[in-house]
Formats: sequence, structure tokens, C-alpha cells
Amino acid sequence: RVEPLKPLVIKPREDEVDDGRKKVTIFFGTQTGTAEGFAKALGDEARVRYEKTRFKIVDLDDYAADDDEYEEKLKKEDVAFFFLATYGDGEPTDNAARFYKWFTEENDRGEECFKNLKYGVFGLGNRQYEHFNKVAKVVDDILVEQGAQRLVQVGLGDDDQCIEDDFTAWREALWPELDKLLKEEGDTAVTPYTAAVLEYRVSIYDSEDAKLNEKNMANGNGHVVFDAQHPYRANVAVRRELHTPESDRSCTHLEFDIAGSGLTYETGDHVGVLCDNLDDTVEEALRVLGISPDTYFSLHSDKEDGTPISSSLPPPFLPCNLRTALTRYACVLSSPKKSALVALAASASDPAEAERLKHLASPAGKDEYSKWIVESQRSLLEVMAEFPSAKPSLGVFFAAVAPRLQPRFYSISSSPKIAQTRIHVTCALVHEKMPTGRIHKGVCSTWMKSAVSNEMDENCCSAPIFVRQSNFKLPSDSKVPIIMIGPGTGLAPFRGFLQERHALVESGVELGPSVLFFGCRNRRMDFIYEEELQRFVESGALAELSVAFSREGPTKQYVQHKMMDKASEIWSMISEGAYVYVCGDAKGMARDVHRSLHTIAQEQGSMDSTKAEGFVKNLQTTGRYLRDVW
Ligand code: 2AM
Repeated sequence: RVEPLKPLVIKPREDEVDDGRKKVTIFFGTQTGTAEGFAKALGDEARVRYEKTRFKIVDLDDYAADDDEYEEKLKKEDVAFFFLATYGDGEPTDNAARFYKWFTEENDRGEECFKNLKYGVFGLGNRQYEHFNKVAKVVDDILVEQGAQRLVQVGLGDDDQCIEDDFTAWREALWPELDKLLKEEGDTAVTPYTAAVLEYRVSIYDSEDAKLNEKNMANGNGHVVFDAQHPYRANVAVRRELHTPESDRSCTHLEFDIAGSGLTYETGDHVGVLCDNLDDTVEEALRVLGISPDTYFSLHSDKEDGTPISSSLPPPFLPCNLRTALTRYACVLSSPKKSALVALAASASDPAEAERLKHLASPAGKDEYSKWIVESQRSLLEVMAEFPSAKPSLGVFFAAVAPRLQPRFYSISSSPKIAQTRIHVTCALVHEKMPTGRIHKGVCSTWMKSAVSNEMDENCCSAPIFVRQSNFKLPSDSKVPIIMIGPGTGLAPFRGFLQERHALVESGVELGPSVLFFGCRNRRMDFIYEEELQRFVESGALAELSVAFSREGPTKQYVQHKMMDKASEIWSMISEGAYVYVCGDAKGMARDVHRSLHTIAQEQGSMDSTKAEGFVKNLQTTGRYLRDVW
């Protein structure tokens, strides 16, 4: 259908009024949208089951302006559900941080505080990490302590396996409890509910209108505040390889130009990068979809009459052609979720393919799904190639098959004190052979590796970026000692720290003692920023550099071994109030370093294991042991 372009209008949500109906509030703390999606899916299904109940889906950040309001409002809720993701080091998502801080802080709310509240918590986490679903578990515990009534056991969603199944199981356990509370005469709760395949309404435009629109939309920059929804499109000013040709891996140093943008950052912050899919990926996606790359279209999350299609639909992106849409917005290299398989099944013209897809998404196909899709890390594109008759429409593809391409976050490796108009990134290339034989090229790291910089060509690459604040910050008093541990690209934020300290030294500020534990495989291959680090030592920005080479000698040397060598020095720095910083891989390195700290406290401080644990925990809670781990 060809229609003239109309501006996209996002309608405000219908205001909730107190009409005596039962009320249920569904909160979410989301980073990549999964928790939000689950919250909305629960809401959608519950609205069908309990027609007379009012369901409200609320971003935890939007719920209350301050701590008092959180308490006041939460006390008045009857039934609430919490979808809470846990990140990196057992942390809440950005939008749940304020709530979590208030909720977990020491307080005098008492055992009766939430006695009128019935609730359920579903957590989103990954079992590979030490603090599996910590946020959900903590919130669940506190709610019970403060008198709330648990309707269903806390759900521990595990992203390492199939989190959708965990959600389904939790939901199934919940319905009988909700029936008792909410079911009223006339409610359709008894009929099993099967969700229809979600779909945007799509408008397709002819080429002349499309050109006009492209022109009007050129130059998206010009915002005052930049965030994930309003990123700044930054040019790549500098790009260079940090490993030597001898290395069989790759690590990119990249500088985004933010001069004149108004975008600012602080040492230790993160940058979110929304980079494009690779050309090969886009070509493959076009092939499996079988739709012309020049098709110019827009998505609408409401019906023609203006009523919303579903609250679970992410906001549509701006009108563009299919090639651009696939390049910028479609995540096609991750494994498809079960709901995506259901949508593909509905789009398959071959009944045998449709059956097989449905089977894979069904409880009966659980093991096959986990083997054929999860374990073999089969990408959406690979799956679609196996089912050639499944040709979803654009509306179905972007709503239910391909999730949105998510920003990738990097610890900024510069300091504005030295690089005010640049954001530096240090990024290791993701290039892995998957069980199916597919070579998985990390979307953003591959893009960075081959990005054309302004130094090479005026027509340089650019990407939408935004800054995410972190609490990984140097002590405000520069005389306080610091211990930094960051092997590999874990060095990134410390390069920023050291640039900042370098600037301080230059301006005559006195610095406290410092030590950096860095680790790499081999001095000749992957000792990134070696010369710069030496210069920081010469200038006094860094007092001591200790490097562990893991593949030079007969035995592996890791940063934690170097730490043990310097145990007494580390202990005396900590005793003098040092801050300890760890950056890098959470599953291996950060866990091992944590154990070493514990051992150091035990041995050097003559503590028993329990006391040492308490000591390290205290360092953490007082903000003197900070981790930026992934
Ligand atoms: P490896 O690759 O030789 O195992 C940066 O990636 C450095 O961190 C490499 O030298 C790598 O060593 C090392 N590394 C790998 N696992 C580690 C762990 N659990 N603790 C500390 N360092 C580790």
C-alpha cells in the first residue's frame, strides 16, 4: 500500500483513574528490554484473563521522584510484580538503581511496612556470573521481611539457558494464585491463552515521497541531552590496531570526535555505541527475507483508528528503506527466541516447516530447542535459512522475529582532562567459531576494527553514541592510594584514570601512591599502550606497573599471581585507605582477583576466613572496592 508520509505521533498512555477496580502494578528494571518485554507480556496476558482488573506497567525510575514517594506509593499498592535484571557485579539496571538503593538501604520501615502488599518477583540474570539474580533475590527477601505476602516463589531467569522458559514456568505457577485474588464472574481466565503473533502496522511509500522525507530527516544531531534514545552521531577521528602483527587476535583503539557536540563525559564513564550491522550480515538478511532493499516503509504501533496494537511493541523507528532498517535496527546474529519461532511458523507457507518451527517452540520441543538453537548458538539468520518458506512480513519481522540491535557499552579509555573533545574506546575483536561452523563476528568490535577514521579519509565512519555515567571513579582526594587491576581491555578505564592523574601532576597536584596490575599474553604481541604506560610511570602519574605475561614462560602468570607477590605492599596500601579497582572479565579474572584479595586480608591481616570476608565486603560497601566487570 502506498500512502503519503505522515509524521509519526506517539500517543501518551491512557491515564489511570481510580474507579474502584482492583489494581495490579507491574514494575520493571530493564537494560536491554527483556525485563520490560516480560513485564508487558505478563500485563497483556493478565488483561485478557482478568478483564475487570486494572494493570499498570511501570518503569521503576518513573514511579517516584524521591525515596519518600517510593515508600508512600508502594505502601498503597495491593498487588505488584517486579521484573528485575541483575548486571555485571550484582548490580541493578540503570532504571532500577535509584529504587534499589532506597529499598536496600538501612531503614526504619519495620516489619509491617508492606503488610497489605501481595507480590511476585521475577529475576533476569545469568548463572555463569557470581551474583546470579542478586537484585531479584534481595528485593524478594526484603519484601518478605517487611510484611509483604509472596504470591509465587521468586523466578530466577537464566539467560545462559532459555530465559523465556523460566518466565513461562514462573507465569504458570502464578496464574492459580492470581485466579484466587482477581478472578471475577465473566472473566475468561479458564480458557488457555495463546498470544497472537505481534505485528506492526506498516506503511510503504513510493520513491518520490521517500526521497523528500530522507532530505527532511538528514542531520539528526542537534539534541541538547544525549541518551540511548537520542544518541549523538560521532565521527571516528582515529582508529588504530593495538596488537602487533605477531598476535592472532586484534584490539582496536578508536577515538570518537565529540567536538562541538555538547556531549560530555567523566573519567570512568561508559560509552554506548549503536553501530551498524556488517554489510555481509545485511545482505544475508535481505536474502532470507526476500524483500527489496529499497522498500521504503514506516512502522506504526497503533491501528488505523489510533488504538494501540500492544504495549509490548517497542517504539517504531523512523521511516527508512529496508536496507537501512536491517543495518541499524535488526539483531539477527543472536539465537531466535521461542516467540520468534512461533512468528516464523505463522509466516511459513510450507506446512511441514511451520510444524517443525512450532514444535521447536513448544514444551515438547524443549530439548531440541536447547540443543539445536541454544547450545549450537544458531543465529536467527541461520535458522531462517533452514526454513526458506518462512517469509515474515516487515510488520511481523520487526515486531516479533528480530529484536532491536542493542547498544554496546565500553569503558571509556580516556579522560576529558586530556581528551576533552574525544571519547576513546579500547575494544577487543570478537571473532569466534561457533559449533555450527559459523564464524561469529562481533557486530561492534568488527565494525570498529574496520572503521575508516577521519585521519585516513574525510568520508570517515560515524556511529550514534551516548555516555552512561558510572560510579567507577577516582577518589576525590588525589592523595588517597589506588590499586588498579585490569588485564587485557580491562586496562581501558585505568588509561583514563592515568591520563587524569597525569594532568594533575602537570598542574602540580600531589598524588598518593598507585599501582597498576596489567596482564597480557606476551610482551611482543598484546602489551597494549606499553609506551604510554611507561610515560605515566616516568611522569609519576603511576608509581608502579606490574605486568603478568600469561604465555611467555612455562607457567601462566596472571594478575592475581602478581598481586600475591606484592601482598604485603597491597595490604599496607589498603590499611592506609587505598581504593581497589578491578576491570575486565567477570566470570574468570574478577572472581579470581576477588579470592586473592580475600586471601591477602586473611594472611596479611591475620584474620580468619569469615573476618576476611567481612573485611572485603566492608571495602565494597564503603565504596573503596569498585568493579567494572562484564
Ligand atoms: P590467557 O589468555 O593466556 O589465559 C588478558 O586477556 C589476559 O588475561 C591474558 O593474558 C589472559 O591469559 C589473562 N587471563 C585469562 N583468564 C584469567 C583469569 N581467570 N584471571 C586472570 N587473568 C586471566
